[in-house]
Amino acid sequence: MNILLLGSGGREHALAWKLVSSPLCTSLFIAPGNPGTAQCGTNVDLSPVDFEGVKKFCSKQQIGLVIVGPEEPLVKGIVDYFAADAALKEIPVVGPSAKGALLEGSKAFSKKFMQRHGIPTAAYREFNLDNYSEGISYLQQHSLPIVLKADGLAAGKGVVICQSHIEAVAEFELMLQGNKFGEAGSKVVVEEFLYGIEMSVFVLTDGKNFVILPEAKDYKRVGEGDKGPNTGGMGAVSPVPFADDAFMAKITQRIIKPTVEGMTKENIDYKGFIFIGIIKVKDEPMVIEYNCRMGDPETEVVMPRLKNDLVELFQAVAEQRLDKVRIEMDPRIACTIVAVSGGYPGSYEKGYPISGLEEPLPSDSLIFHAGTKEDNGQVVTSGGRVLCVTSFAETVYEAVDKSRDVLEKLYFEGIYYRRDIGYEFL
Ligand code: AMP
Ligand code: GLY
Repeated sequence: MNILLLGSGGREHALAWKLVSSPLCTSLFIAPGNPGTAQCGTNVDLSPVDFEGVKKFCSKQQIGLVIVGPEEPLVKGIVDYFAADAALKEIPVVGPSAKGALLEGSKAFSKKFMQRHGIPTAAYREFNLDNYSEGISYLQQHSLPIVLKADGLAAGKGVVICQSHIEAVAEFELMLQGNKFGEAGSKVVVEEFLYGIEMSVFVLTDGKNFVILPEAKDYKRVGEGDKGPNTGGMGAVSPVPFADDAFMAKITQRIIKPTVEGMTKENIDYKGFIFIGIIKVKDEPMVIEYNCRMGDPETEVVMPRLKNDLVELFQAVAEQRLDKVRIEMDPRIACTIVAVSGGYPGSYEKGYPISGLEEPLPSDSLIFHAGTKEDNGQVVTSGGRVLCVTSFAETVYEAVDKSRDVLEKLYFEGIYYRRDIGYEFL
């Protein structure tokens, strides 16, 4: 089967790496991909939101399966576009319809969805310019800290945790009146702050049945000891030591089942990944957020630990027979560390040559490209998150150590990475 994967980050390199290991994969195309994905298949100069271009490419290459890596094409309706097109509708696309993608694309939608289906999440209210002054009064009597969330997609920057009422009111004003996040901030969710430890749960659903993939813990802050500003993710580990069978059973019963059943009841077409950001409050799981795609850098530990054939899994999704599938995982611990450009998540320079990529790798380590590109035969930096190094070991300590060893041999100007990924589990 010829497969098209949309996207260009570390997540897509990990998905591409896993897809080509399947005997069912004849040719893999990645649009637009990066120099890492080019080692797994053929990169195609095509934007994932150019639906017309994707359509032409699918016909030309007789694509039999499309996998959507990032959220933007999903929120913009790529699945609906395929379903409505006579030439495309037989091609399975891994990802939800635009309505399903609202779980990520609209915080207000996802909060209401959780309320309708009794899914545990932080208490909240929703405001816009019409009930602006009511919002201000609400904020002034709210306990601290206060969580403000822009409703729409805001490139991971739409959540602000305010430590004072003055800050909360100022932020609220910036989002609603100052257009801080543009259209994405025209609605604001004000939420209670939850105290606990976070983890990422990955579900693959065929719209009726679901399987749970290996879970992971992401490290979002740029600095060691979880200090400094939020990033897209600086590293991840899988499995998560505190996510034992009893805790995963609670997540399954109280969160995953009602989520999948809720979508079926509401006739939401959803055949794809659901990424559930969970926070463990005392001993109970609550939902922080949904995403309609895999996590990045979590995919860089989830895919290496997944033993099932990924193409077979996607075929089971298309044919709604995930109930017949058993997920098998590598019992070892996987850790990934992300090497970022100096200055990230603030402003940073691009185009620095990367050296060390040709060094032989230990058998239990992998390098995934994130923000890289090829420039006259030289791989150079082209984003904030540049490379991810994943390693397997029996303990978190050893896995982190192996990834750090590999990273020591890699270099680009300004390279920075956290040396303490997994620190709470050492
Ligand atoms: P989100 O974009 O919704 O994942 O939010 C980004 C980050 O903000 C989360 O990973 C949490 O660390 C934090 N966060 C969001 N909502 C809450 C909340 N209600 N209580 C505590 N932390 C939160
Ligand atoms: N690592 C978090 C995300 O992908 O949103």
